[in-house]
Order: sequence, then C-alpha cells, then structure tokens
Amino acid sequence: MDSLTRTLPASWFCSSELYQLERRAVFLKSWHLLGPVTRFQKRSEPLVYEIAQVKLIVENQSPDSDGVSMEGIVVYAEEKGREIKYHLTPSGLLFATLSLDAPEFEEFFPGLEDLTNKVDFTKLPHRRSISYEGRFNWKTMIDGYQECLHCQYTHPTFSKFYPPTFYSVTNHLNFSQHVADPTKPNDGLFLYFFPICTLNVYGGGMSSFRTLPSATVPGLARMEFDYYHNGTEAEFEEYYKFVRQVALEDFELCEKAQWNLERGVYGEGILNPVKENGVAFYQGKVREAVYRQHGLEKEEKKRAEHSLVKAVGGKVDAVAVEIAAVA
Ligand SMILES: [Fe+2]
Repeated sequence: MDSLTRTLPASWFCSSELYQLERRAVFLKSWHLLGPVTRFQKRSEPLVYEIAQVKLIVENQSPDSDGVSMEGIVVYAEEKGREIKYHLTPSGLLFATLSLDAPEFEEFFPGLEDLTNKVDFTKLPHRRSISYEGRFNWKTMIDGYQECLHCQYTHPTFSKFYPPTFYSVTNHLNFSQHVADPTKPNDGLFLYFFPICTLNVYGGGMSSFRTLPSATVPGLARMEFDYYHNGTEAEFEEYYKFVRQVALEDFELCEKAQWNLERGVYGEGILNPVKENGVAFYQGKVREAVYRQHGLEKEEKKRAEHSLVKAVGGKVDAVAVEIAAVA
C-alpha cells in the first residue's frame, strides 16, 4: 500500500493559512489562461480578472477595423508597481502571470503549443460568460475535473457521447490532456492548466473555466465560465444547455464533497493509479510547492533573525568598548 499515492488530507481543503501558503507557492508562480483572443474583441470594454486576489486588466488597443486581432492585446495588473508577464500562443490563447515569480511561459508549459496549435482559436466567437460562487475549496473542483471515475453516474448525458471506458489523462510538466474517446481525435480537446484553469473543446463549441479561491474562506470559490461557439443562436443554446448540465452536476458533487471534508466524514484516501493519475499529478504539485515554500520562508525567517542578533550583538560590543575606554 505504501507505493500508492495518497490524497491531500482534508485539512488542506479547510485551512486559511494553507491557502495563504498556496497563494505564494502556487498561484503567484504560475501561468493562468485568460481566454482565446475572441474574448477580447470589444475594444471599449477592458476585461478585469481577479485571480488569487490579484486584479488583471486586459485591453485590446487595436482599431475596430482590424477585426479579430491579436496585435493590440495588452495585460497589466491593476495594483501599481505589480509587474506581470503575459503571452499569446500562435493559435490565439492568452495567458498571464500574477507576478514576476513565475518562470518564462515556455519553461512553465513546455510542449503545450504543439497541442494548442492544432486548433485555430480565432475562429470561435465568444458567446456568453457566467460567474457564481460555490461552497468548495478550489482543489475540490480540480479533483473532480482531473478524473472521470465519477462521470458515468454523475454525467449520464456526457457519458453517452464520451463513454468513460476509454477516458485517459496524460500529464505534462504543468498541464494535463484528457482524452475522452481515442477514436474521435478531432472531437474533444480537454486541457487542464495547473493550477485552476481548463479549456474544453467539445460538442461543437468551447468552454473554459477558472476556479478562483476566496481570500478568507478556504471552502469557497468563484466559478467563472466562458462559452464560445460559431453556430446559430439555436445551435449555441443547445450546446449551452448540454454543457451547463454537466457543470451543474459537477457543482453539486463538489459542494457535497466539501461538506464531507469540513465535517470529518472524509479525511484522506488512496488514489487509483490509473483512473486518478490526473488527481495524483496536480495534488503532488501542490504538495511539493507548498512544502518548498514553507522551507524557503523558514530559512528566510532564520536568516532575518540571525542578522538581527548580529546587529544587536554589534551594538552591545560597541557599547562594551566605549565603557572599557571610559573606565
Ligand atoms: Fe464531472
């Protein structure tokens, strides 16, 4: 049993201090998907994102006459003095960081563009965005996204189109690719970007969601969904109904799971090495980053205390010399 990966303990889903560590260890050092360029085509309306309490603003400064344009898109933090990085992939996906602590894009997501370049993201117009709160920790939602063991009983409509029998997850350095049906390589591109963003191209359209942690309540997150489709109004509505059904089924599952985590009904368990390899992957990354950050901060504190002792010690020595001189 020792070789099997265990889940993060329930306390990691219920602690404010732990979230503050995650914020410094994970969120401020990662790249986050903001959307495809079609999301940023209303020149008069800059978009505001709030990720881990950092506000990012996206503006499209190109003239309207340019049509769907990648050229004029700029991203900056609302907070004065906060520097960030942003990157547009060749096929039109916009990513940004929350600080300069994140590595370069290619270093964080090696190999990602080989995959995303297969889809032209400039061709799917933005149709709708919705946002609402959920009573769950951000990881509770990602736990569910990163496996499909729950799909058959939770998502009967989805499972009809994408039978979970073939479902597999391939993990890369900081993203995972989900393959729902290997016989349909052109339908269904499901990507998870560590830590909180996803991109789901299926059912004729595309959706993307972010699970945004609350600053103060560990068991609370804001879900933000963006929907893209190039069909008629009726076709879009049909697609929307389908994907909303799946999202609501997940939402209910997450609120119930969090309830169990907060009340000691579920503590921790063992992950299925095949069917839950996506969960093991991202939880392992969180665990490692949090431990590393904790170690770094402990070292820093020790160093700060040491230099304080030295400084005070120096002053005491100087006073001793003065007293000796007077005597
Ligand atoms: Fe699900």
